[in-house]
Amino acid sequence: MGAATTIAVLRERASGEHRVSATPETVKKFIGLGAAVRVEAGAGLTASISDEAFAAAGAEIVADGAAAGADIVLGVQGPEPDLLAGAKPGAWVVASLDPFGQRGRVDAYAAGGFEALAMEFMPRITRAQSMDILSSQSNLAGYKAVIVAADLYGRAFPMMMTAAGTVSAAKVFVMGVGVAGLQAIATARRLGGQVSATDVRSATKEQIQSLGAKPIFVENVAGIEGEGAGGYATEMSPEYQAAQAELVSSHIAKQDIVITTALIPGRPAPRLITDAQIATMKPGSVIFDLAVASGGNVEGSVADQVVEKHGVKIVGYSNTATHLAADASALFSRNLFNFLSAFWDKEQGKPVLDEEIGNAIRLTQGGKVVNERLLG
Ligand code: NAI
Repeated sequence: MGAATTIAVLRERASGEHRVSATPETVKKFIGLGAAVRVEAGAGLTASISDEAFAAAGAEIVADGAAAGADIVLGVQGPEPDLLAGAKPGAWVVASLDPFGQRGRVDAYAAGGFEALAMEFMPRITRAQSMDILSSQSNLAGYKAVIVAADLYGRAFPMMMTAAGTVSAAKVFVMGVGVAGLQAIATARRLGGQVSATDVRSATKEQIQSLGAKPIFVENVAGIEGEGAGGYATEMSPEYQAAQAELVSSHIAKQDIVITTALIPGRPAPRLITDAQIATMKPGSVIFDLAVASGGNVEGSVADQVVEKHGVKIVGYSNTATHLAADASALFSRNLFNFLSAFWDKEQGKPVLDEEIGNAIRLTQGGKVVNERLLG
């Protein structure tokens, strides 16, 4: 066996990115597999991890340029190509690479001879669940959206019977019941809110009920299933959209908090709430648009700003999970470790991918862009 596989952990450069792609726990586990780990100085500080903690786990702390000599470079977001200077030929770049949004960067990875692996393209199959960064980060985002909305709301969530009178429970409506939406429902329930939720996939009805919330669904309209490939949502018929708009209009006027999470893979987020609907809500209500970075579910939402329309606060973060940097980093890092360790070949002392997962997540190889979703 040759020299140990070297894994480099970069400090994130993107503004507002507080997460890190490894923790002392995953560093220790990588070393346990026989790898050497180098961490860029200060990489963990915004996620409450000191250089000393990384060093104590066995990592070598290096100044800028950790990628030099590395076989595998880890990031939360995709590194600028110049940060990969000196990495081994064919080195893997493993991160959330935003392949559609950062196409130029993907081309540069190809030109540099790197093998770029996009973690957000991980197939949603049972054996890859523990490697799924979309789920781990969406779960935290759903929680955080409710916490932020609760903070901006000028009233309390739970019903309170006090000597000075009764405070009524906040009415919370969650639109889009995927991973983020389910956690939003659970969090709003824990805070004592009266929760309802909707989705285009009828399979979510039972999930909503099992969390103690009320399903609000369009009934008796063609194309109600709304479920396409891989369990994701599809775009709905005009007839369905009209029925949904009517149902939502009457419901939304009575809500105090609305959390929207609806996404359609590869397309702009569906518009779920119009300005006219916002005008029917009570002043002081709060809307959190978790889809703001994909175009937004809510008319007028602006990334990373609190906008006030008709007395209603509308908020959305472009990167919600980063606001829980320590937990988000811990889960993201475990996703990366679970992925690389599942494919670790003991003989070769490095990971070797199988076809199903390799073809799904590999963007570049041999100097070319090779991923079907980017070529199609
Ligand atoms: P997502 O982030 O793509 O979308 C969020 C939710 O918005 C989805 O539930 C979607 O149906 C809903 N939505 C889309 N358009 C809508 C509209 N016009 N009105 C109302 N709601 C709308 O979804 P996420 O969280 O990525 O989950 C997608 C699917 O993948 C789910 O079925 C989930 O259970 C499944 N999944 C499977 C995993 C696995 O097996 N490894 C892991 C994670 C999720």
